[in-house]
Amino acid sequence: MTDAEELHAIVAQVADEMRPHLGRGKVADYIPALARVDPRQFGIAVVTGDGRSVVAGDADTPFSVQSVSKVFTLTLAINRLDDALWTRVGREPSGSHFNSIAQLEAEKGIPRNPFINAGALVVTDAVLAGGRPADAIADITGFMRSLAMDEAVSIDPEVAISEEETGFLNASLANFLRAYDNLGSPVSDVLEVYFNQCALSMTCRQLARAGLFLAHQGLDTLNRIQVTSPERTRRINAIMMTCGHYDASGEFAYRVGLPGKSGVGGGILAIAPRRAAIAVWAPGPAAPRNTLVGALALRRLAALTGWSVF
Ligand code: DON
Repeated sequence: MTDAEELHAIVAQVADEMRPHLGRGKVADYIPALARVDPRQFGIAVVTGDGRSVVAGDADTPFSVQSVSKVFTLTLAINRLDDALWTRVGREPSGSHFNSIAQLEAEKGIPRNPFINAGALVVTDAVLAGGRPADAIADITGFMRSLAMDEAVSIDPEVAISEEETGFLNASLANFLRAYDNLGSPVSDVLEVYFNQCALSMTCRQLARAGLFLAHQGLDTLNRIQVTSPERTRRINAIMMTCGHYDASGEFAYRVGLPGKSGVGGGILAIAPRRAAIAVWAPGPAAPRNTLVGALALRRLAALTGWSVF
């Protein structure tokens, strides 16, 4: 078998193996618009540096990327602020729930890392840079469209509104950050951008394509655009590995061995450095930290390809 044939066979096998696990448990329902998603779906897309997309299952069905968006806003914020970002947010695993507030108080308004919600709000504030929310939302959407090479990428307004209507903890975190002088823009502006970035709707194929630069030292090998520097790319991958799944990050590193970022919509973006970007989507059963089926699929993919970084 050629490498290409082998990868097709592996992706098909992973999708097959997931079939008995689908539809068990329930989807994330703390955001009402997400509760309506059919939990029996599963998609996987692997995009390699030479532009091959190997997909299986529901890889072309759009889903709510949720916290996976935090990887891309972090890229924009690091490009804008460089090391100055790290005076406002840390780089250590939190060991706590994605929207926990306790640590933020103990650590005086400096979030542990950019992927817990408190840290992601600081990152979003850095992208907003005191400007208008509509402009920041357009910047983020444009960034995702160009990385995915697909103008169809868009925000699901129903999900964004649903987030806003139920986002009391996020509002608390943002107010807390503002009280500690760690937000430059008004709380309502930061929340508006954050809720909209989480409501980005993308397919596995688009998401894996968008993450490709993270597997190739910041170079989008298809657009031939240096999205960020090789050094920043290493750092983003390091934070995905150590913090990408909140208090399940150690478990994901142990079982999968790839930098990854999960979202409560059931998506996970994982990076196999120098090889490929991988997106999986399994909306149910969803744990808040990652999707159980998505993590299992990545574990099998890493085992069958030998792509673990360890
Ligand atoms: O902040 C929230 O509640 C969501 N919009 C995003 C959370 C999320 O995806 C957490 N991660 N797995």
